[in-house]
Amino acid sequence: METQHSVLHPGGTDAETIAILSWIMFGGATAIFFGVAGLTLLAYVGGETMRRRIASGKFIFWGGVIFPLVTVTALLVYGLMLTGARVIASSGTALRIQVSGEQWWWRVRYPASGEAAEAVTANEMRIPVGREVEIELSSPDVIHSFWVPSLAGKVDMIPGMVNRIRLRAARPGVYRGQCAEYCGGPHAMMAFYVVALEPAQYEDWLDRQRQPAASPPLQKAGEGVFFSSGCNACHTIRGTRATGMIGPDLTHVGGRLSLAAATLPNTADAFSHWIRDNQFIKPNNRMPPFGILSNGELAALGAYLESLQ
Ligand code: CUA
Repeated sequence: METQHSVLHPGGTDAETIAILSWIMFGGATAIFFGVAGLTLLAYVGGETMRRRIASGKFIFWGGVIFPLVTVTALLVYGLMLTGARVIASSGTALRIQVSGEQWWWRVRYPASGEAAEAVTANEMRIPVGREVEIELSSPDVIHSFWVPSLAGKVDMIPGMVNRIRLRAARPGVYRGQCAEYCGGPHAMMAFYVVALEPAQYEDWLDRQRQPAASPPLQKAGEGVFFSSGCNACHTIRGTRATGMIGPDLTHVGGRLSLAAATLPNTADAFSHWIRDNQFIKPNNRMPPFGILSNGELAALGAYLESLQ
């Protein structure tokens, strides 16, 4: 899976703005670095007149006070113009998605609309290309920061508040995101994917996400292990009696790109590995390791979860 996770490879208009500003700053900083290095060199090897000129009060006033004042003010004004335009351009027609920062994963909700039921997923959101998306960011306990470098800037997720970020993907693709505020424990393993799809594909995907899990289950044995092991105390599988809210909604977990917030690939083996060894894979995460399950039970459980497409 080829994914982009870089401020310098923008996949949308907001990230393009940030990339332009970044290049201006890199360019300016490089020019100033060489300018200062040149002056330092002149101070060492230059003649007496040159040294006196560099050390004069007038030179220091213009080079050390006026120059930074003018360049930094110009950069600030230009930056405000670039980013300010983005806020004005956004409208009430944006698509709304709610994302909650959990310890240490992302709860993603597509609100119910009309007849369509709410869809809940985790560690992945899909969006239509070309459409403005407004993401409502919250957190139940600690501060996280929502950051998809190739699509937009960072916005903190603060308990008791709803912050908003608007973004738009210009091209289909898979864009990696990362929690950008230290939130304890396995903060570094709190990543996610934004998948930008053509609008028709996106609608198909969302329709499917709104549906409950297949009934009867495709993997009956694994479903038995799921309930007998008490997985339903923490996880929801819509359409079954699993209604736990502590961990991610697993209704369509088999269709996601990754497991454990972009830590593992999404395969039946990875599910088994995760369920048994999750404290080794992602230390201090909130899920207990299920070392008591036999290899046969783990394989059945893995096959069941993978079948939840
Ligand atoms: Cu969540 Cu860092």
